[in-house]
Amino acid sequence: SQTSDLESLVLQSVNKDGSISNSREFASQNGVDHEKLVGVLNSLKLGAGMLELENKTESVFKLSKEGEKILSDKATPEVLVFNAIPSNGERIEQSKVKDIVGADVEKIGMGNAVKNKWIGTEKKEGEPIMVGDKVKKNITVLLYRQAESVTDAVYDIINNVSQGKQIPADAAKTLKTRKLAGEEQVKYFVVTKGPNFALERKQMQTDITSEMLANGSWKTDEFKPYNFQALGRRNEWNGYLHPLLKARSEFRKVFLEMGFSEMRTNQFAASSFWNFDSLFTPQQHPVRDAHDTFFLRNPATAHSLPTDGYLEEVKKVHAEGSHGSLGYRYDWNVEEAKKNILRTHTTAVSAKILRDVGIEYQKTGKFTPKKYFSIDRVFRNEVPDATHLCEFHQIEGMVIDRGLSLGDMIGLFSTFFERIGITELKYKPAFNPYTEPSMEIFGKHPQLNSWIEIGNSGMFRPEMLLPMGLPQDVVVLAWGLSLERPTMIKYKINNIRELVGHNVDIEMTRLYPMCRLDREDHHVLSDYRR
Ligand code: PHE
Repeated sequence: SQTSDLESLVLQSVNKDGSISNSREFASQNGVDHEKLVGVLNSLKLGAGMLELENKTESVFKLSKEGEKILSDKATPEVLVFNAIPSNGERIEQSKVKDIVGADVEKIGMGNAVKNKWIGTEKKEGEPIMVGDKVKKNITVLLYRQAESVTDAVYDIINNVSQGKQIPADAAKTLKTRKLAGEEQVKYFVVTKGPNFALERKQMQTDITSEMLANGSWKTDEFKPYNFQALGRRNEWNGYLHPLLKARSEFRKVFLEMGFSEMRTNQFAASSFWNFDSLFTPQQHPVRDAHDTFFLRNPATAHSLPTDGYLEEVKKVHAEGSHGSLGYRYDWNVEEAKKNILRTHTTAVSAKILRDVGIEYQKTGKFTPKKYFSIDRVFRNEVPDATHLCEFHQIEGMVIDRGLSLGDMIGLFSTFFERIGITELKYKPAFNPYTEPSMEIFGKHPQLNSWIEIGNSGMFRPEMLLPMGLPQDVVVLAWGLSLERPTMIKYKINNIRELVGHNVDIEMTRLYPMCRLDREDHHVLSDYRR
């Protein structure tokens, strides 16, 4: 290779002459790039120890534009002018010389050639001429050679400079006064033999192998020193959030900015009591049977249900009615409430938190308004299809305060959904066992220009809140949204199996950009997919 050719050239030169006195000169003599030579020198020094390098600086001439032109013309302007004049003593008009050598060269060359006494000038006066209505003199300048022949000393200097050769002091002065070159400081190396000098590079081992250990060659082999400064291999696969989690972190931000606190949702398993009964969902309700709910086998029943009287309150409101409600009037069975399940909604978490608010109020007589949210997994025994899986994420939220109305909830949704880029909302009456009134929320998809269902909401019923011990006049606005739905829309994924599960293309975690819900310009569904 070129590098090893250069390497052996360097080694042979150092061997022959004992040193290379100037790496820059060496480079130009051998027609190689100095940078490349320095690379070879360093690699022969470092690790190998074959060479010793000494840093030096020197000043060198660098040709100006005018100097470069002389180099490419292979002559100074004064010589070009001299050469343009006939050698037989004949006169030539100055303007003709200008045509031959060009105006720029003529301008500089004329003066120098006259000063050097290489050429002489003569004026010839012809008949006056009219320019417009004025009479003008008609003078022609004629040139002739004065010297037999000339030598181009300045070109020789420039040629030497271009080859990196040293030039005498008076020559340097000429270059400077005529602004043909300027001086520059450059670095070069003096190259001498290093402790391991040899004409050829020894093959060094990089790592010890079992073979070396077995045949004993490790004792005599030379090893390359480790380079602890070397950069590690870049790991392209570090720290990428799954698209679903990218969207989740963006929703989290919106809630936190709006002053919501995050609920702890780290228990996927729940008792039917907290998932259904506390939410005033009757035990015969279809969602509770095996078609919709995953029941746990081990442990199949809850270790503990509330023993502080709350369970009896729940039983009463279901079986007989209380707090002004007629209830469902059926035999409420605690065995049914004990059944362990995978939570079917995070409203099970909200229920527990509300009960804590009730306990606090019962104990202290104090009530503090609260705003809560959570985004976590829920499980439903559904047949998976393009848009449904048996587990998905719910975005849950509630506002607990006195004097809240449905208007407050609608206002809250306007603010919240505006922040995620949905500005047009519609509501449709709905039914949940635990809310009254209940509303489904529809949002105008800004780009598809169609209405899509984005969530379900309502005000928690007194049958749910009063057994918990909350103050009579406290209202709880609550809602549940899907995380998968906006994420699929955001990243333009049509099949949920492309987003979650074992068929997912892992690369998308790296390629999909951070989810921005574009709260400012409402382009929530803009095309980010590459
Ligand atoms: N839990 C409901 C669901 O699973 C959502 C909801 C939460 C509705 C709170 C009203 C109030 O869809």
